[in-house]
Amino acid sequence: MAIEWSGSRDVHLELPAAGPRRQAVVAAIRQAVRDGRLPPGARLPSTRVLAADLGLARGTVTAAYDELAVQGHLLIRPGSGTVVAGPTGAIGPIPARPPAAKPQRLSLLAGRPDVSRFPRTRWLAAARRAVTGAATADFGYGDPMGHPALRRSLAEYLGRARGVLADPDRIMICGGYAHALATLATVLREHGGPVAVEDPSLPDFRRVIRAAGPEVVGVGVDADGLRVAELPDGLAAVVLTPAHQLPLGGTLSARRRTELVGYARRTGALLVEDDYDGEFRFDRQPVGAVQALDPERVVYSGTTSKTLAPGLRLSWLVLPERLVGPMRAARLATDRHTGVLDQLTLAEFFDSGDYDRQVRRCRTAYRTRRDALLAAVAEHADVTPLGVAAGVHLVLLLGDRTEAAVLAAAARRSLALDGLGRYWLGPGPHPQGVLIGYATPAEHAFGPAVRALIGCFDQESH
Ligand SMILES: Cc1ncc(COP(=O)(O)O)c(C=O)c1O
Repeated sequence: MAIEWSGSRDVHLELPAAGPRRQAVVAAIRQAVRDGRLPPGARLPSTRVLAADLGLARGTVTAAYDELAVQGHLLIRPGSGTVVAGPTGAIGPIPARPPAAKPQRLSLLAGRPDVSRFPRTRWLAAARRAVTGAATADFGYGDPMGHPALRRSLAEYLGRARGVLADPDRIMICGGYAHALATLATVLREHGGPVAVEDPSLPDFRRVIRAAGPEVVGVGVDADGLRVAELPDGLAAVVLTPAHQLPLGGTLSARRRTELVGYARRTGALLVEDDYDGEFRFDRQPVGAVQALDPERVVYSGTTSKTLAPGLRLSWLVLPERLVGPMRAARLATDRHTGVLDQLTLAEFFDSGDYDRQVRRCRTAYRTRRDALLAAVAEHADVTPLGVAAGVHLVLLLGDRTEAAVLAAAARRSLALDGLGRYWLGPGPHPQGVLIGYATPAEHAFGPAVRALIGCFDQESH
């Protein structure tokens, strides 16, 4: 006989069909303890509940517990239940809260927002409204493109804030850019031809594309973004970060935008616009989306990973019409769709204005941080910042210093940093540099992280 305990930790307990019952209970619990399925501190059901579950007399289970207690496997605490003993027979306490975390290592790793700013209360309120207001049908399987309510909210937001021509019927909700790109790459595979990415660019996404099939080629960038004139013919797609090139931080110039769309029209290549941090623009007028120049040739991608939290895994694509069918089919063949309650919560978040409020708050805080960082770095004339006008990271070119020396100095100061080295595709030599994710630390850790960084540039760490 096998049971799952409820009311406490679920544990699968198997008793032989025949034989003495008390010994069977003792053996089964001892086995569960040995297997680690009942760890020290785990609470066992009361003798009454277990007896009822197993169809035994209560006295049989009480006798089994007593025997296990004598053997040192259980601790019977009158009035507060029976728990599994620790290895030395001591009470394995069930901690009321997890043990205090070790002090966090400092981090200026790029690509992350300050997740301690996540608007928990407002998100919770939005989730409550979403669940309360959801139709019964919303708990069934949903539309592979995403919930219509979120697609409507996004169409409004993207048009207003990012200059995207977004028809709700062309929007697909995804589980982060990585997921969106993986899905898109499976569709591009049918087209044949390699996919061009910026050189340098984030290697993680190159792996995502390759894993889906297409070959990846690199095309150089400069202060004006992707060098469009260097794009070869025969590409299935060009994936780029026009608003704030990752990692070097250039913005695709107006002229190159026009040239890029001309290239796409001439060759039939798809353009994939990764607008990962477009909400954060500090010095100039916001840069609109390339997508608006030709919505039939550009896939626009946005994400909550910089504005809210990467852990949400919520993002969106705006698709050319011809890709809607294939992308819908690709979702049906894989994960079907993004979780509906998360989608409805995000829709509430947009509609209430909470999303805009959060972006504005973060933008102000990150601009202040960026200014403080630049002021601190200015003491080192040989270190050159790049890509400072936008986003949640910048690059420091290191002059005569090597990346390896700076990263080693950072490691000695317990500071997590990313070097530029792994972002390049083509053979070097490449400029030595580090990415600085100034949004990453929580507020209290920002000052110490910047001081640790500056310490890496001080004379002794050459
Ligand atoms: C270039 C770029 N695009 C997109 C993203 C967002 O990815 P995701 O939505 O999968 O978190 C990031 C995050 O680091 C990024 O660096």
